[in-house]
Amino acid sequence: MATKHVPILTREVIELLLGENSCIKATRAPLKYVLDFTLGGGGHTRAMLDHIRLHDLPLVVVGNDQDLRVIDRAQEVFKPEILKGSLILSHQKFGQISSAYLKSLGIDPAHIAATFADLGFSSDQIEDETRGLSFMRDGPLDMRLSPELSPVPLYDKLLAASDHELCEVFRAYGEERFCVSMSRAIKQAQARRTFENSTKYLSDLLVAQLPSWARRGKIHGATRAFQSLRIWVNDEMGELERLLMFQGTELVAGARVGFLSFHETEDRMVKTAFKDKNLWQKCGKKPWVPGRQEITLNPRARSAKLRVATKL
Ligand SMILES: C[S@@+](CC[C@H](N)C(=O)[O-])C[C@H]1O[C@@H](n2cnc3c(N)ncnc32)[C@H](O)[C@@H]1O
Repeated sequence: MATKHVPILTREVIELLLGENSCIKATRAPLKYVLDFTLGGGGHTRAMLDHIRLHDLPLVVVGNDQDLRVIDRAQEVFKPEILKGSLILSHQKFGQISSAYLKSLGIDPAHIAATFADLGFSSDQIEDETRGLSFMRDGPLDMRLSPELSPVPLYDKLLAASDHELCEVFRAYGEERFCVSMSRAIKQAQARRTFENSTKYLSDLLVAQLPSWARRGKIHGATRAFQSLRIWVNDEMGELERLLMFQGTELVAGARVGFLSFHETEDRMVKTAFKDKNLWQKCGKKPWVPGRQEITLNPRARSAKLRVATKL
């Protein structure tokens, strides 16, 4: 099936990671692999493969995702590239990727030339109501981007959490100012046994906690709360922290890394990691952001920030 996901800042990603000024040409080391940690709809991976073919670069792309449906789709869509050996697929959470895991795929971490991570979820995932990621479509309270690799769906996590813990999730990942009343409402509904395993139900419950002026805002009243619950269920900040640590310790000097983030906390984590002058040399003083034209064509691009650095 066709993807609805539109890749963001593709030209910049390719130019910065694989272009003239990247390490690819300059290095004499036997660098061989480009890791796309977040394959998704495959837009960036496709652009990498096209660039590599066009410029006859001696590189193999590794397309990784935690979502098995993404991998299944890629098996079909990228069949010729997989058969040719120019693409290797990997189904893993990027925070779990270690040197031992890469070696099990036949990849020597010392031969990684560049890596890329486009954080968060894809349009295909949010539009699939069985995932329960959106309040626009009714579905189960699941939110796992990988039902295979993440054992606990949102409904069970909500049952197990205290209202203090929930409030902290809403505050930390969504800056939700009504976190106290929202978390209390969830715990009260569970105690009354009226709490339903439905995104529509949860969205209505959360919005009902807002004062009337806050319900009239431009963004839906459940937006921040849903975003924070998704980040929590998928341990997105923990995953990013582990990936940054892996790259800082395992990549060889000269490897380029790029991160496309959509959340302020994620961007801050990447920015802070790149400040370590013993490990990274930043590319550019500021992050790359999409221009007005890209945002008009793809509104999801509006909060994107791309940061790139070279391993020292
Ligand atoms: C924004 S989409 C990537 C879109 C892709 N660059 C494209 O051009 O179509 C993010 C993807 O990353 C995956 N993902 C998110 N967190 C992950 C993690 N911790 N480990 C592996 N994959 C992850 C999601 O399942 C999703 O498919």
